[in-house]
Amino acid sequence: MAVAYAVGVGPGDPELVTRKAERILRAADLIVAPVSRAGEPSVALETVRSFLDDRRQQILQLPFPMTPDRDQLVDAWRTAAGVIADNVASGRDVAFITIGDPLFYSTFIYLLGILRSEWPGVPVEIVPGITSFCASAAAGSVPLVEADECFAVIPATAGIERIIEALSRFDTVVLLKVRPLFGDILEMLRQTGRTGTTLFAERVGSERQLILTDFEQIAAHTPDYLSLMVVRRSPAPGASFHS
Ligand SMILES: C[S@@+](CC[C@H](N)C(=O)[O-])C[C@H]1O[C@@H](n2cnc3c(N)ncnc32)[C@H](O)[C@@H]1O
Repeated sequence: MAVAYAVGVGPGDPELVTRKAERILRAADLIVAPVSRAGEPSVALETVRSFLDDRRQQILQLPFPMTPDRDQLVDAWRTAAGVIADNVASGRDVAFITIGDPLFYSTFIYLLGILRSEWPGVPVEIVPGITSFCASAAAGSVPLVEADECFAVIPATAGIERIIEALSRFDTVVLLKVRPLFGDILEMLRQTGRTGTTLFAERVGSERQLILTDFEQIAAHTPDYLSLMVVRRSPAPGASFHS
């Protein structure tokens, strides 16, 4: 029986795609890649393009608009889930690709819910990928947590109060989606004394990768959507930060 795969392709470097993901992608009949708008480049697709053969495989880019409008979002999720389910029902293996990991802040989570409730007969297999924060910590040589340290991941869109609370409770806080609140985050990092222990990472794994640990350089930069921060309470052994 055909299978719907959710394949995490890692942060953007083809060498950080797992061997299992590569094997499944080379064999799939249909690759579904999310894009924010029709015609926009798909980071996930560019990451795995060299593994695909478009004479033999169909590649479909489906738009998932970045909008707070729940109806529009649900429409996009239902359309994608329907395409996946119909193709699997007709015997084709489908691979839905996603940056990082499919179960870590990914659109695939919504598709999984719809597939489970509306097409329970469709077999789903999830292939984990290297998350953006693991790749960022590695690129910056900044330990995430060691010994009995604890950490939290906060999408900055959750609001500055959630970030302040997390910083007070956890040894390390990873901030995703930092762009919309960047100015407020910088101010809060100054006030909470984290200027010497913050890593900024953008487009990790791509040719445009930028890693900054000097707070003045971080503050002078204008981040794009694919950027995050790793904020430690204290510098870890081996980490090189500059305030
Ligand atoms: C919707 S989440 C996707 C997370 C992804 N599923 C993962 O496992 O990392 C999008 C956020 O992840 C972070 N991100 C994803 N890829 C990144 C990259 N290559 N470099 C830096 N940050 C990245 C950014 O904070 C971005 O706003």
